[in-house]
Amino acid sequence: MTTRPGDPTTPLPLPRFPADFVWGASTAAYQIEGAAEEDGKGPSIWDTFVGRPGAVRDGHTGAVACAHYHRYAEDVALMRRLGLDAYRFSISWPRVLPSGAGRVEQRGLDFYDRLVDALLAAGIEPTPTLFHWDLPQALEDEGGWLARDTAYRFGEYAAVVAERLGDRVRRWITLNEPFVHMSFGYGYGVHAPGRAMLLDAVPVAHHQLLGHGLAVAALRAAAGPDAQVLIANNCSPVRLRSDAASEADRLAADAYDTLHNRLFNDPLLTGRYPDLSAYGLTDPGWGGIVRDDDLSVIAAPLDGLGINYYNPSWITAPADPASGLPFDLTEPEQAYRRTAFDWPVVPDGLTELLLGLKARYGTALPPVWITENGCSEPAGLDDAARVGYLGAHIGAVAEALAQGVDVRGYFTWSLLDNFEWAEGYHQRFGLVEVDFATQARTPRASFAWYRDLIASQKP
Ligand code: BGC
Ligand code: BGC
Repeated sequence: MTTRPGDPTTPLPLPRFPADFVWGASTAAYQIEGAAEEDGKGPSIWDTFVGRPGAVRDGHTGAVACAHYHRYAEDVALMRRLGLDAYRFSISWPRVLPSGAGRVEQRGLDFYDRLVDALLAAGIEPTPTLFHWDLPQALEDEGGWLARDTAYRFGEYAAVVAERLGDRVRRWITLNEPFVHMSFGYGYGVHAPGRAMLLDAVPVAHHQLLGHGLAVAALRAAAGPDAQVLIANNCSPVRLRSDAASEADRLAADAYDTLHNRLFNDPLLTGRYPDLSAYGLTDPGWGGIVRDDDLSVIAAPLDGLGINYYNPSWITAPADPASGLPFDLTEPEQAYRRTAFDWPVVPDGLTELLLGLKARYGTALPPVWITENGCSEPAGLDDAARVGYLGAHIGAVAEALAQGVDVRGYFTWSLLDNFEWAEGYHQRFGLVEVDFATQARTPRASFAWYRDLIASQKP
């Protein structure tokens, strides 16, 4: 049998990482908390979207999910067994501000207060993300992220949270994957809020980034000078099919790189948007969307850039010039191993991505954190494929470190099997298997592997 890139291997021993390298795991509020209507929480766009017929496979919803809202102490105990240095979770905006703005729900804040205290007592650094896609429905009713006002509401929400948790939380993440929220939520409509606007969704990028910049200022003001602020961007190295590549393919790949990666990283790190002429945006103000001084708000210095990596993107020129997009997403010609989600396993894409960031941004690139990386694999406790995936990707991070990229931490996605958005409970990304009928948690082989890896890296 021949081996293919991404095949499970026996990845230990790995190179030694810096002694202060942070080992973590990530989750998100709507994917694990459940308690969708408890303690005064307002509805989010995901509570609404899951009720739309056909939106989520088999009509699954996050109403109960992993019941983490009630079982958080058990989950923190699992993290402690893993030996995590840090835990990335997200805060549900409508749990804290049921209408998105105005009245604060103290019981919502109390939950995150208890979670932060439990983490600190277990020696785990709380690393909250303020927005992981669950916008308050009341703000969606006012236009969601198509409305500039939502950015200001996000800044106000950041201040409310930082005033409550800023005495104990040192490291913050503003947004999760503004690219995926824009494209899946507003472009294609496969995620909440379920709008299918294609390129008319692009203002969602700017308003999220403006909200990010306003939140950076709010966090620094409320959480003090020691607060570290990051954003978590989904980045994907863009590849051509070598059997195809024409000049038109190269232009398409460049256009895709602009939309997926540079549209979000450039303004944050350089204070400028990339050339968007492939998307018909030739006016620097995008027809009144980008206003004077917005870019200086967006480019406020960051303490780190979070990167969520799953796989590269293969691009060709659009087969149908009337498709409305200047690229087609295609499949690699190479037979990579595939996860249960059918995503190709391409660890060297992560090294390529990190080296590419360093090459593009140079000294403007802050320290990098891998804020998500992981895979869906079939249910079951013997997840050798996940062990292979993690080992190979952590090895890819080690390679980038060896080549001079300043990477400070790695958070795997995910601690628990959870509500995988449009796929419902069908995709299992957890180091811990969750039986959704009983809420029983059972660590998988990958849990033991990650625990041993973390222990082996401690001085
Ligand atoms: C892509 C991944 C991406 C994910 C977002 C998938 O289709 O292949 O790269 O992270 O969507 O949920
Ligand atoms: C998201 C997660 C999601 C994961 C796997 C990322 O795009 O941030 O919420 O579960 O990919 O699809």
